[in-house]
Amino acid sequence: MGVKIAPSMLSSDFSNLSEAKFMLDCGADWLHMDIMDGHFVPNLTIGAPVIESLRKHTKAYLDCHLMVTNPIDYVEPMGKAGASGFTFHVEVSKELIVRIKSKGMRPGVVLKPGTPIEEVYPLIDSENPVEMVLVMTVEPVFGGQKFIPEMMDKVRALRKKCRSLDIEVDGGLGPSTIDMAASAGANCIVAGSSVFGAPEPAALISLMRKSVSENHQN
Ligand code: DX5
Ligand code: ZN
Repeated sequence: MGVKIAPSMLSSDFSNLSEAKFMLDCGADWLHMDIMDGHFVPNLTIGAPVIESLRKHTKAYLDCHLMVTNPIDYVEPMGKAGASGFTFHVEVSKELIVRIKSKGMRPGVVLKPGTPIEEVYPLIDSENPVEMVLVMTVEPVFGGQKFIPEMMDKVRALRKKCRSLDIEVDGGLGPSTIDMAASAGANCIVAGSSVFGAPEPAALISLMRKSVSENHQN
């Protein structure tokens, strides 16, 4: 972790990009480039074409700060143009939450097994929070995989933090894993192969319901 001083080119004369070189000559480590789309923020600045032009003149680290509504759409052009850093706003996911709600759906966020639970905290603590967190208990790809018990640490941490949030688990849930999930605090259980393959799906559903409700009484 080194010191990086990044002059913001927003304060430069946009008609004179040689000011970038001036800043580097002055000892700047990075050039901070503010990309605004006139929608996420009420201002319109520069985009990939300017990054591309600048890149022709310098090898400097271009620290791009994207104040745009759809950062995903910018990933490819910015990469091609030669951006070095691509910093997007966590608030963009909040915007997504608002939109989902406005269409009458409940927003939920999912995390893969490799993603730490802390990454969803900003989306739970925001003024427009998600209403459910889905903790993947297998890698999302197909049904019938083996439940990863280590994921229960995430469920426990989340349940400790949020008493009434819907916490869903998905992958490898069935008679032999339901108690682990339920006692960790999961209250929404996805089950594919176990239920569809059960001789009596109704009995398995009721067994899982019982496990969750017993654990939630305690
Ligand atoms: C996994 C999917 C699951 C899958 C679960 O990528 O998200 O919903 O259908 O299947 P089982 O319960 O068989 O693991
Ligand atoms: Zn699923």
